[in-house]
Amino acid sequence: MKIMVIGGGGREHAVIRKLRENPDVTEIYALPGNGGIAADAVCVDVGAKDIDGAVRFAGDNAIDFAVVTPDDPLVLGMVDALEATGVPCFGPRKNAAIIEGSKVFAKDLMKKYGIPTASYEVFTDAAAALEYVKTAPVPTVVKADGLALGKGVLIAQTHAEAEQAVRTIMEDKQFGASGDQIVVEEFLTGPEVSVLAFTDGKTVKPMVSSMDHKRAHDGDQGLNTGGMGTVAPNPYYTRDIAEVCMKTIFQPTIDAMAAEGRPFQGCLYFGLMLTPDGPKVIEYNCRFGDPETQVVLPLMESDLLTAMLACRNGTLDKTDIRFSEKNACCVIAASAGYPEKYEKGYEITYDEGVSAQVYVAGAKLEDGKLLTSGGRVLGVTAVADTLPAAIRAAYADVEKVHFGNAYYRRDIGARALKALDQ
Ligand code: AMP
Ligand code: GLY
Repeated sequence: MKIMVIGGGGREHAVIRKLRENPDVTEIYALPGNGGIAADAVCVDVGAKDIDGAVRFAGDNAIDFAVVTPDDPLVLGMVDALEATGVPCFGPRKNAAIIEGSKVFAKDLMKKYGIPTASYEVFTDAAAALEYVKTAPVPTVVKADGLALGKGVLIAQTHAEAEQAVRTIMEDKQFGASGDQIVVEEFLTGPEVSVLAFTDGKTVKPMVSSMDHKRAHDGDQGLNTGGMGTVAPNPYYTRDIAEVCMKTIFQPTIDAMAAEGRPFQGCLYFGLMLTPDGPKVIEYNCRFGDPETQVVLPLMESDLLTAMLACRNGTLDKTDIRFSEKNACCVIAASAGYPEKYEKGYEITYDEGVSAQVYVAGAKLEDGKLLTSGGRVLGVTAVADTLPAAIRAAYADVEKVHFGNAYYRRDIGARALKALDQ
């Protein structure tokens, strides 16, 4: 089977490694992939948002199955375009990817179907939004409607900050057209949990839970990033809570999308907050999370390609999806300065004896050398019987990876360990 995977980050590297475990997979192409992924797949110079390029490549190369992982091509309708030419895909169609593409859509869906989430108001007019946030309870959360590279969420501690947030998004258009509409919502508190779930539009099978670390620096200080590390499972997410989520959030969301004529097939990411009033949805993503995937897939015991085909073919209810009871920790090594200004072009080298999985996110090959080319450069994932052992092993191996100006957080998993102590 010839497979193509769209994207070129650490998440895609983890997906490709896992897909390779299936003996029916003969060839994997990554569009565009990266210098590290090139060790595991054939990288093709087609951008992740290039729908025409992907369709052409699939046709020219008799691709049997396409895995579309990043948000942009999903929201733009790459799955629809590929399926129209007879290429079966893992990933939602455009009319279902809107669950991530529009926060207004997601909030209205949850309200209509009684799925627990923060209370909210929607504004298309800056003046009305400014008037509203003058008296709204603070802290308050101001969100751009559309995709904004994970940066379109502003948390305001005061009324003045809330007004500034509205101006930043709606008047200064810091996130472009994504800010034509905004959601202003209630500030929730509690531990955050990421749950990725396979779904074929009817059945939903959650994967092992995980915890992201979004801020750049230790102690959850500094700017929001794409994610500086993850652990799985998330110790806050108990069996009881998982049952509540299945009943009040996961299945109701899948049923709601089907009822709206937008059946969701692929991986649906539930960003949850475990509030004192029970679990609530903070956000939906229409795809695997990054770097959640880098801890979730190494714990998957059943076959990934089989699960993906079942999502596409509507047979997930009959498909065995299994995860190990072990623990995983992924530490992201970034270029110092990320998510703002950083330098690139440094050679990446490894000492002997790295036993963890290294998933490369931002690197290119030049004259046989692997050079840094992005903010998040790579993720080091270790799996062990206990969470402390997984954390220790991931850090032991991240120290064996070298490149100029490397930076990583020292406290990935520390919050999870605290939960275990409670
Ligand atoms: P998002 O880009 O939607 O994942 O939001 C980024 C982060 O903002 C989340 O991971 C939360 O930590 C925080 N956040 C988003 N919405 C809320 C909310 N209603 N209450 C508290 N924190 C929030
Ligand atoms: N790690 C968060 C995301 O993938 O959006």
